[in-house]
Amino acid sequence: MAITANGIIARETGEEDFLSDLNWDFFVSFAEKAGCFVAGRKTYEAIQQWEEYTFDNVAAKMKIVVSRDSEKPLARGYTHALSPKDALNKAAKAGFKKIVLAGGAHMTSAFMTENLVDEIILTVEPYLLGKGIPLFTPSDFEARLKLQKVKKLGNKGLVQLYYKVLK
Ligand SMILES: NC(=O)c1ccc[n+]([C@@H]2O[C@H](COP(=O)([O-])OP(=O)(O)OC[C@H]3O[C@@H](n4cnc5c(N)ncnc54)[C@H](OP(=O)(O)O)[C@@H]3O)[C@@H](O)[C@H]2O)c1
Repeated sequence: MAITANGIIARETGEEDFLSDLNWDFFVSFAEKAGCFVAGRKTYEAIQQWEEYTFDNVAAKMKIVVSRDSEKPLARGYTHALSPKDALNKAAKAGFKKIVLAGGAHMTSAFMTENLVDEIILTVEPYLLGKGIPLFTPSDFEARLKLQKVKKLGNKGLVQLYYKVLK
């Protein structure tokens, strides 16, 4: 997830214009390497509207959209899942061992609440936004993390924090 230094992932309107392109480039190469990513229905719909950055251009073999609506119409090349567990089961059935969770806030919270996250990568943009969509929606979970590495991304002040979720 790409966040501001105060933990915001998007404006209230859903725009991510304050984030550097490096975030998207990193997501694309990471998701393509894993071969499979999962996104919440609202993220899928938001990103499909963007011209340059669309999930359609991500060359991952499996792209899963989670929605409680079993009849949610999805574009070709997308797989529907009814819940976080359903998404992981479908990915595992297709042979994927590593699955990238692409957000947004409701999805990350749902996965954390069900204790389904092993690793977290936060790319911190050098930016503050007083209001917007936070990394997690208020939810009933807590977790201790182990910091694995800290990396600079590019030369514009972006920092990546790699954590393992201790279980
Ligand atoms: N900065 C970043 O790294 C980053 C990454 C991703 C997204 N974003 C931004 O985040 C925003 C969207 O985040 P969001 O929190 O509003 O929405 P979201 O998490 O992308 O999607 C929420 C939807 O996912 C489905 N869902 C959530 N929990 C579920 C569960 N437990 N079981 C089944 N389905 C479930 C529901 O779809 P239905 O209503 O269809 O049932 C729900 O409305 C967008 O603006 C996007 O641009 C930012």
